Amino acid sequence: MLKNKTVVLGITGGIAAYKAVDIASKLTQAGANVRVVMTKSALEFITPLTFESITGNTVVTDMFQPNAEHRINHVALSEVADVIVIAPATANIIAKLACGIADDMLTCTVLATRAPVIVSPSMHTNMYENSITQENIAKLKKRGFKMIEPQAGRLASGGYGVGRLPDTETIIGAIRQTLGKNGDLKGKKVVVTAGGTQEAIDPVRYLGNRSSGKMGYAVAEAARDRGAEVTLITAPTALVAPAGIELIKVQSAKEMKNAVAKASAKADALIMAAAVADYTPKAAAKQKIKKGAGGLTLDLVKTPDIISEVKGKFLKIGFAAETENLLANAKKKLTGKGMDMIVANDVSAEGSGFGTDTNKVTILLKNGRQESLPLMSKREVAEKILDKMGKMMEGKM
Ligand SMILES: Cc1cc2nc3c(=O)[nH]c(=O)nc-3n(C[C@H](O)[C@H](O)[C@H](O)COP(=O)(O)O)c2cc1C
Repeated sequence: MLKNKTVVLGITGGIAAYKAVDIASKLTQAGANVRVVMTKSALEFITPLTFESITGNTVVTDMFQPNAEHRINHVALSEVADVIVIAPATANIIAKLACGIADDMLTCTVLATRAPVIVSPSMHTNMYENSITQENIAKLKKRGFKMIEPQAGRLASGGYGVGRLPDTETIIGAIRQTLGKNGDLKGKKVVVTAGGTQEAIDPVRYLGNRSSGKMGYAVAEAARDRGAEVTLITAPTALVAPAGIELIKVQSAKEMKNAVAKASAKADALIMAAAVADYTPKAAAKQKIKKGAGGLTLDLVKTPDIISEVKGKFLKIGFAAETENLLANAKKKLTGKGMDMIVANDVSAEGSGFGTDTNKVTILLKNGRQESLPLMSKREVAEKILDKMGKMMEGKM
């Protein structure tokens, strides 16, 4: 996805300029050719040497720099860019872009490019909320710029408010989504579930499981990066909300079922990677249960079986997390629950299952075919699932 793509990273004179180091580093690690352009004000906050060391490329700071490759052509970077991202973007650069000003290398590059441009504003809340800034942002959106919403939190100037630069994952997620928008799943609506549901015992306790949500999030992000419109229905996890994905947060199996039923009404595929509780307390205690002299017995009832109960024309893809008789149990689920595909994974195997970044799975299809994959990253597993799902959608499998 990012491999061999040229990402022009524009850095402007905001206090969050130091965070661009992490963005440049992660993009480079992902295989992108990162070309950094810094405004004059950005140089007051951080030095080009840092970015040159990380990206292995010369940093452009001056349109009239003598003996520089770009001196010949002030639009050189605009032509090689697959995507331009400005992070952090000051109120000043946003205003200049909205007016078509081209008085430095960054503004010239943006004005001349045909590549998509992503802008991540970061500034004091009052500057951000000022109607002039808001009008400029609206103007850029209307012209097709992709704006990343700043986050609320503690500001460098003290106090709290909206204006913080989002974390690196969010910005890179937006870049991946932009680069993949014409991918093989373009126009497809995909609903993904993730995480382990929590079934309330009382106001402070719940029955849960060891699911980290990593597999489901990897599937959702991979589908987004192939152009799909993704809704991620997630039980509580410690993971960052992925950019460019509609996120619906739920807690219990019942809440997940309702959310899945609603979201999948117009979906092309439902991928159930969540670890949904099979049983839930018959009734959660209204007050915290006190420790008594004897033991405690919980009265449990079955939860809804989401994948078999939710009806529709979409493809149904499930996961079977097992600790024994993996394939036999997976086959039983595949046919018994009317699925089109099931991903069987032995959660007790090394490097596989809950909390890890890798997984070793066997994919079984309803036509009887199956493929056992070697240990690979959850993202790679996600891509394999989507390869098969894409073929099924085209009627080729
Ligand atoms: C310490 C300091 C921090 C600043 N932080 C920001 C900021 O976070 N966001 C912003 O829009 N402007 C900020 N500014 C103001 C910009 O640096 C100023 O508007 C500058 O002209 C921006 O130029 P540029 O857009 O060409 O980089 C800050 C200024 C100073 C002195």
